[in-house]
Amino acid sequence: MAKLRVGVLISGRGSNMAALIRAAEAADYPAEIACVVSNKPDAPGLALAAAANVPTVTVSHRDHPDREVFDRAVAAALERHGVEFVVLAGFMRIFSPWFPTRWAGRLINIHPSLLPAFKGLHVQRQALDAGVRLSGCTAHFVTLDLDSGPIIAQAAVPVVAGDTEETLSARILRQEHRLYPLVVRWFAEGRIAVDGEKVAVQGVPRGATLLFSPEA
Ligand code: GAR
Repeated sequence: MAKLRVGVLISGRGSNMAALIRAAEAADYPAEIACVVSNKPDAPGLALAAAANVPTVTVSHRDHPDREVFDRAVAAALERHGVEFVVLAGFMRIFSPWFPTRWAGRLINIHPSLLPAFKGLHVQRQALDAGVRLSGCTAHFVTLDLDSGPIIAQAAVPVVAGDTEETLSARILRQEHRLYPLVVRWFAEGRIAVDGEKVAVQGVPRGATLLFSPEA
């Protein structure tokens, strides 16, 4: 069967993008990374993608007069590469309503908290300040509201005494790298069904949509 053509949007380091590229290198992985688009010309992830022979495009938000014009330029780049499914991986631009509408049901994000807790920026700081003992990451569909679309899967990690934003971020990031390729696989295999706010993943073991890593 033809592989799902995935476009990955980044703004920076690109470690989640790299995890997806790595996963997609396996012959039996049902998706391929068709292109990587960055809104920042100096995003380190661009070099990682190029080194893996993945086409890259920079669409700088600075070159576009407003959010929707920028969004349309990003969509045009994705379409040029035949993208069918869009994955945000540390993409730090807020869309106009046009983009999530254009890609509705085919646009996902990963966020470093157990949503709906701790939306927006400085997420690990928010978790530490709240004193939670459990945090993690969430893969979710992107809708018009920031960090709010239907949740597909989550990975949980402990928050321990002495944690800093850096230690907690790193612990969560390791789980992001496990979770995101899994979720893209499920989408490519046609397992994901959305019903309003709820997502069902068909044909996976019970509990497969929650990863838990007790490693502190
Ligand atoms: C990741 O932790 C991701 O969850 C977060 O940015 C980081 C990007 O790292 N995304 C958000 O906060 C989106 N709201 P990466 O560039 O190494 O993948």
